[in-house]
Amino acid sequence: MTTSPTPAAPITPAADSPLVRATRGLPVPHTPVWFMRQAGRSLPEYRKVREGVGMLESCRRPDLVTEITLQPVRRHGVDAAIFFSDIVVPLAAVGVDLDIVPGVGPVVAHPVRTRADVERLRALDPSDVPDITESVRMLVAELGPTPLIGFAGAPFTLASYLVEGGPSKNHEHTKALLHGDPELWHELCRRLAQISGAFLRVQAEAGASVVQLFDSWAGVLSRRDYVRFVQEHSATALGAVADLAVPRIHFGVGTGELLTLMGEAGADVVGVDYRVSLTDALERTGGRWPLQGNLDPALLFAPWPALERRVREIVEEGRAAPGHVFNLGHGVLPDTDPDVVTRVVELVHEVSQR
Ligand code: CP3
Repeated sequence: MTTSPTPAAPITPAADSPLVRATRGLPVPHTPVWFMRQAGRSLPEYRKVREGVGMLESCRRPDLVTEITLQPVRRHGVDAAIFFSDIVVPLAAVGVDLDIVPGVGPVVAHPVRTRADVERLRALDPSDVPDITESVRMLVAELGPTPLIGFAGAPFTLASYLVEGGPSKNHEHTKALLHGDPELWHELCRRLAQISGAFLRVQAEAGASVVQLFDSWAGVLSRRDYVRFVQEHSATALGAVADLAVPRIHFGVGTGELLTLMGEAGADVVGVDYRVSLTDALERTGGRWPLQGNLDPALLFAPWPALERRVREIVEEGRAAPGHVFNLGHGVLPDTDPDVVTRVVELVHEVSQR
C-alpha cells in the first residue's frame, strides 16, 4: 500500500467514517458499502428532477448536483455519496465540443486524431469549474459524517472517448494511435492527466474525503501496453492529490490482469470488477492494497436467496483483505429495483458487524 501523508487537518467525522477507515486498512464497525451509479435512472426521484434537463447541464447546476448526489444516501443509507457528475465534464469545461447522449454515452463532435487536434486540448484551471467547488462545498455541509467521493476519468478512458469520438467496442482508433504514433499518444495523455488530476484536486480541496479514478476501458489493454502507454499518466493524475491525505481508489472494468499495475500507479485501494473474485484479487495483489467490489450488477435482478448468498460470500472474502469497501463490479443498471439495492445495504451492514 502507498503510504498516505498523515492528515494535517483535525479528524472530521467524515474523515473517520467507515469508508475512509477501510481505505486506510483501519478497523471498522461494519464493512462500508456504496455503489457506482447509485444516483441515476434506477431512482424515480432522479428521473423526476432530470425531466427536461440535459445530462451535461445537470452536472453544472449546484442545486441539481446536490439534490441528485444526496438521493441515494437518503434512500439507501449507503456509507458514502459519490459526486454527481461525469468523466467528460472537465473536457467540456476546457472547450471540447461534446454531448452525453441518453442510452449512448459521451459523443465528441470532432474526434482527436492529429497533432493539431491534440494541441488544441488546453489545461484545466480551477476557475473553469467554480460550480464544481460550490457543489462539493454544499454537499459536504449537507452530508455531515457521510463522506463524499470525488472522481475523474483516467487518461486512457478519456482518450478513448476523444479519439474514437464516442463509445467503442474495439477501441481501434485509440490503439492505432498509441501504437502508430506513441509520441503523440503520450502528449495527448499528458494533457489528459493534467485535466484529470486538476478535476480530482478541485473536488478534494473543496472537501471530498476520498477520490476514485475511473479507468473503465483499461481492461482492453495487455499488461505490456498498459505499462508502456497508460500507467505513468494515471500515476500523474493520482499524484495530483498525493499531498492532500485523501485516499485514492483506482477502478477499471475487466482489469483482472492489471490489478497490481493499477495499485502501483499510486492507488490506496484497488477496485475489482465481478470477473475476478476478491479472493483471487487478493492473491494477485499480494495483499498490498485494500480492495473495493465486487457484486455483479446483474445479480440485483436474481431471486433474493441467490443474491443474499453472493453478498454474504463477498463480505466473507473481503475479511481477508487489508480493508474492504463493498461495491458492485460496475454501475447500477438503469432497470434495477431500488428496494433491492436498499436491502443489500442493510444485509452488508448486518452480516459485517464487528
Ligand atoms: O452515481 C454515480 O456513480 C456518480 C455519477 C457518475 C456518472 N457518470 C453519471 C452519469 C459517474 C461516476 C460517471 C462516470 C462515468 N461516465 C464513467 C466511468 C464509470 C463507468 O460507468 O465505467 C464513464 C465511462 C462515463 C461515460 C458515460 N456517461 C456513460 C457510458 C454514460 C451512460 C450512457 C447511457 O445513457 O446509458 C454516461 C451518462 C451518465 N453519466 C448517466 C449518469 C447518471 C446517465 C445519463 C442520464 O441519466 O440521462
